[in-house]
Formats: sequence, C-alpha cells, structure tokens
Amino acid sequence: MSRTSVAAIVFAAFTTLSTAQTFQPEIPRIWDEKELERFEVPLAQRDRSPRYMTPEEYYKLKVRPIYRTYPVYATGREPAGYIESLKQKEPEIIFDASKLKTKEDWIQAGKLVFESEPLLFPPPANGVFFPTPLPPSKEGILPEFIPGNRYIIRKKGVLEVGINSCAGCHTRVMPDGSYLQGAQGVVDFPNSAEDLRRAAEMKPETLQRRQNSQWILYGAPWIESKEQFQAAVTRDAIVRRLAAERSGVIARQGTSATHPPHIPSLIGIQDRKYLDSTGLVRHRSIGDLARYAVTNQGLDTLAHYGDFQPSTEETPFSSEKGTRYSDEQLYALGLYLYSLKPPPNPNPVDDRARRGQRIFQQQGCATCHTPPLYTNNKLTPALGFRVPEDLRQTDDILNISVGTDPTLALKTRRGTGFYKVPSLRGVWFRNAFGHGGWVDTLEEWFDAARLKEGFVPKGIRGVTGPVRGHEFGLKLSPADREALIAFLRTL
Ligand code: HEC
Ligand code: HEC
Repeated sequence: MSRTSVAAIVFAAFTTLSTAQTFQPEIPRIWDEKELERFEVPLAQRDRSPRYMTPEEYYKLKVRPIYRTYPVYATGREPAGYIESLKQKEPEIIFDASKLKTKEDWIQAGKLVFESEPLLFPPPANGVFFPTPLPPSKEGILPEFIPGNRYIIRKKGVLEVGINSCAGCHTRVMPDGSYLQGAQGVVDFPNSAEDLRRAAEMKPETLQRRQNSQWILYGAPWIESKEQFQAAVTRDAIVRRLAAERSGVIARQGTSATHPPHIPSLIGIQDRKYLDSTGLVRHRSIGDLARYAVTNQGLDTLAHYGDFQPSTEETPFSSEKGTRYSDEQLYALGLYLYSLKPPPNPNPVDDRARRGQRIFQQQGCATCHTPPLYTNNKLTPALGFRVPEDLRQTDDILNISVGTDPTLALKTRRGTGFYKVPSLRGVWFRNAFGHGGWVDTLEEWFDAARLKEGFVPKGIRGVTGPVRGHEFGLKLSPADREALIAFLRTL
C-alpha cells in the first residue's frame, strides 16, 4: 500500500472519528418564557387561548427517568421462571445524556423517549392489558408498541406496565406485518360486541366517572356548559362512539369525543410549519416540537383557558406526580422524529401515474398541495371563521375555506379557527382521510357520492351522512380519478 493511500485511510478514520466526537448538541431551553409567547396560534375565541405553567413552576418538576423495559409474552409462551427472573432485576435507567456522543447516539436515545410510557399500572391479573388481533413474534412476544405490552421496573421486585407513549399512537402495522414507527397509528382496533355490551351495562358510578373524565379531556365551558356536556355523555352515546371507533383516529385530549382528529404520520415532520389539524403549534424550531410534546403529554390539561382549568392534578399524564421530561430527553426526541424516513414506495411511476400528475396540475391541487412537500404549509379558515387581521401579518393564511366540518376548529380547546393544508407525501401508507378521518381510502375521498345525504362512509363505522367540503377532484371521470389516485400513491 502506498504512503498516500495509508495517509488517506488514516485521514478518513480521523475525520469520521472527529465528526463523531464533535457533534455538538444545541439543546434549547424548552420551557422558555420568550419562546412560549408565540409558539401557538391563538384560539378562535382568543381570550380562551391556553396559559401554561410558568418556567419557574415547570423547572421545579422532577425529571422522569426512562427505565429499561422487558417484553410481555402471549399466554402460554412465557419462558419458565421469566417473571421471577424479572423480579430479581434492579431498576435500570437507560436514558443518560452524559453518555451520548454522536448524533446517532442522540437519535437512538430519542427513540427511547418516543417509546417510553409515562402512565403506569400493575399488570392485569388475567392476561393482557389491550387485547389486539396482532400476532406475537416467533418467540411469543406481544407487539411492544401496543400499550401495556412491556414490563417496567422502577423498583426492584415490582413489575408495572404502561401506556401513553408516542409509539403507542404513532406506529403503523404495514401490509407485510412489520411495524413502522412514526407513521399514522392504529391504536383503535374494532371494539368487540363484549366491549359494547359492557359499556351498555356500565354502573351509574362508572358512568359518572366517565362523565367527569370526559369533561377534563374535552370540556370547553365557553362552548357548552359542564351540565349540558355531561348530560350528553349517556350510556347510549358511549356505546355509539365505541362502535364508531376505528383505526387511525383517536380523540386526543383537547379535541372532541364526537369529532376526533385522525392521527398524522410524523414522517417528514421537520418540513411542516404548523402542527395539528388546526395548526395550533407554530413549528419554528426543534424547541417548538419539544413544546408540542410537553403540552400534549399533560401540560395542556393543566393550563388555564381563561378562567377554566381542566385539571389541577400535578401532571395528569404521568404516574409519577410532579414530573416532566428533561430538556435533553426532548431534544433527543426531536432529533429522532426529524430522522424518520418513509419506507421505499412500492407504487410504480407508470403512464397512469404520470397522467395523474398532469390531472393534479390541471385541477389546481398544486396551489395548496405544492410540490415538493405537497403542502404550501398554510392555514385555511374553517367554515364561518373570520380571519383576525393581525394573524395575516404573522402567519401564512390562505383566504379560501375548503368547507370541511368546522367543529374541531371552532368548538374545541385546540380550535384556532383554521385547518392546515396537509402534506400528501406518504398518503400511500395512511388511511382515515380528512382531518376527522371520515373516509377510509382515497377512493372514498374523491367519490362525489360522499356529499350526499345517506352516504355511509367507511371511515366512521355505523355512521351515516355526508362528508362535506374539499370538493376538489370530485368531478373527474372514473379513469381520471383512478389516475389521480395512482399518482398520489407514488408520493
Ligand atoms: C393517545 C394517542 C397519542 C399519543 C400518546 C401521542 N400522540 Fe401525537 N398525535 C395524536 C393525534 C390524534 C394527533 C392529531 C391531533 C390533531 O390534529 O388535533 C397527534 C399529533 C401529533 C403531532 C402533530 C403532527 C402534525 O403533522 O400535525 C406531533 C408532532 C405529535 N403528535 C407527536 C407526538 C409525540 C412526540 C408524542 C409523545 C410525546 C405523541 N405525539 C403522543 C395522538 C397521539
Ligand atoms: C384551496 C386549497 C386546496 C386545494 C386546491 C386542494 N386541497 Fe386538498 N386539502 C386542503 C386542505 C385544507 C385539506 C384538509 C382539510 C380538512 O381536513 O379539513 C386537504 C386535504 C386533502 C386530502 C386528505 C389528506 C389527509 O391527510 O387527510 C387529500 C388526499 C387532498 N387534499 C388531495 C387534493 C387533491 C388531489 C386536490 C386537487 C384535485 C386538492 N387536494 C386540492 C386544501 C386544498
């Protein structure tokens, strides 16, 4: 080997080593007074915009450690002595910022944050927490992203299982059976007849508890009084909602039990300027993404909406009272989300898809779904919302309303009065279209019959009625419609 090539190898090794060692994490102060001022778009009823706890209060909360977890096995598949061996283990903290050197280390640590479950319970006595139709692995291990399918040890000898990780709602089951983290989640599997029967026979105390928790999750007294709201949470209404639940949609707190949003895919999130269907969060930096995680994992429930505070529990979405994420954990989580890539697209760019692309141009779709992101990253006013003048100066607003159901935008704690233009990238691995996930497929979204009374959408089981608004592309011939959809599936 020549001296120059040896030198080149040494140099290459040196640069890999030094870039690896010189990754400088720039960890923003997440709960920063100045940053908090403008990270959210005001609510449609502006004096009800949330006021969160102060940085002083926030940083007094203790950091929640992230512990090692262990698989849960399907019934009869557990290795002999498994539970006893877990009970001998010491708790082990697996997120340690002082050990992270390279960017890849930080990304992998962010994945641990994404998977960590803050709400913990004793393992259920009779088997699994959330029965799912998904099969166990070859070794008999239950899918770990499903809530309750991992043992956590915070104290030697005590096993717990947890829920409410990001992964629990943002992991997709792909057609080949693999799990894709960051994509639109599946959480709600069809509820069984047994679930519906149990709900129908709920005891009065259970119903009352349900009414109270629904008020904490979705109450907005400036829209509807507590009495009216709770009176509508009847056994029948609960059964109807359970029957209508479907994959890809979930009523996150602050949205609506009757008008829940679809779960977005987080793949490609770094290019989106607004977060949530209603564009509530201005995504200006990795810090804003972290702020989104903080509010969504419980701080919004503690906020004051004018004189209304949904809950006074210290941190309602954690079993460890008075805890929070560390700024390092949140920064790692952000890096992880920014690193997510879509899987290889199996849909061919053939003649039909190319024809679909021309139709996409001709129909004016690109005005709003502008390539290459297939969104112009703007907000559109919901039906009936008058855009406040000052927001035209500070935000990217398109004057046209697409005319979809205005409930989420106008009548909830996340209601800014707007819907954002969603990106169409990755529609091939999504379902539940429209912000409410009313229809299940693109074929249905572009079916003009959805505007008619008596339409039975496949997204909302058992619900009948028109899916209004966004009438673009509804007048195409069947062949053109097919071509348009074929094109969209290549994005
Ligand atoms: C209980 C289910 C659930 C959990 C847990 C959950 N999410 Fe979500 N997430 C949703 C739903 C539903 C939405 C859509 C909300 C809306 O549009 O109003 C959403 C929206 C988002 C968005 C906005 C994306 C966009 O394009 O608008 C981000 C970012 C996000 N989630 C990140 C996270 C992170 C990070 C965690 C963990 C800290 C997390 N989510 C936990 C259900 C969940
Ligand atoms: C005036 C802006 C505008 C135009 C033009 C437009 N869209 Fe949209 N599109 C939107 C908005 C806003 C939404 C979200 C509406 C909602 O969820 O309430 C949306 C939603 C969608 C969705 C559902 C995405 C999802 O994640 O649920 C698809 C698919 C879509 N548009 C495709 C198209 C196609 C194809 C065309 C042209 C035939 C088109 N759009 C024209 C603004 C527009």
